[in-house]
Amino acid sequence: MDQQILKQKVAEAAFARVTAYHSDHLLLGIGTGTTAECFIRLLPDLKSRVEATVASSDRSAALLVELGLPVVDLNAVGPLDVYIDGADEANSRLHLIKGGGAALTREKIVAAASREFICIADVSKRVATLGAFPLPVEVIPMARSHVARELFQIGGQPVWREGVTTDNGNLILDVHGLEIEDPLSMESRINQMTGVVCNGLFAARPADVLLLGAPSGVEEVLAPAP
Ligand code: 5RP
Repeated sequence: MDQQILKQKVAEAAFARVTAYHSDHLLLGIGTGTTAECFIRLLPDLKSRVEATVASSDRSAALLVELGLPVVDLNAVGPLDVYIDGADEANSRLHLIKGGGAALTREKIVAAASREFICIADVSKRVATLGAFPLPVEVIPMARSHVARELFQIGGQPVWREGVTTDNGNLILDVHGLEIEDPLSMESRINQMTGVVCNGLFAARPADVLLLGAPSGVEEVLAPAP
């Protein structure tokens, strides 16, 4: 089945979950990417119950505004009810690699500020071990070469995503060749490198619910008990 149809199906499943929330003043965190965009395009049907949205990228914010949804700065609101976003890879513990769209830092902030994180993806994103998808790392521009050498020291092959500047004015290194057996410690290790703003591992704050679109339907995977 076409990947776009699977993305649409998981977006609809996430929309149904959010619709079931018992609130008429919903505070929604909204992700970035083609799957998140499918979800955003459903939101006009929920507009009367949405108090505000917080977007993880300028392009998602622009689409939300175009569709007539209220978009606010994260600093203007308290904790968000739920964050809905896609992923580049997901394992069975709902640890993720994100940042294929270069929005990882804001995605991580909005996920951290949300009570629930619903991750939506087509089934091709499910993996046993994270790392086949190159791990995005956002770096301060002057630290690019230094951080690349540090990433090389831990066994990765960093590649500068040339021509891309993040919404925060920084650069992206995509780290190839990592087999990430322990996502939590890898996330923390890379974050400790001077010049790193953020990396695309979501293990300290994994998803709470993973909705996976497959030709047979949408599978719901819950995070295992800690
Ligand atoms: C953007 C992301 C996206 O969620 C991720 O790249 C998946 O994108 P898509 O839904 O287009 O497959 O992390 O930074």
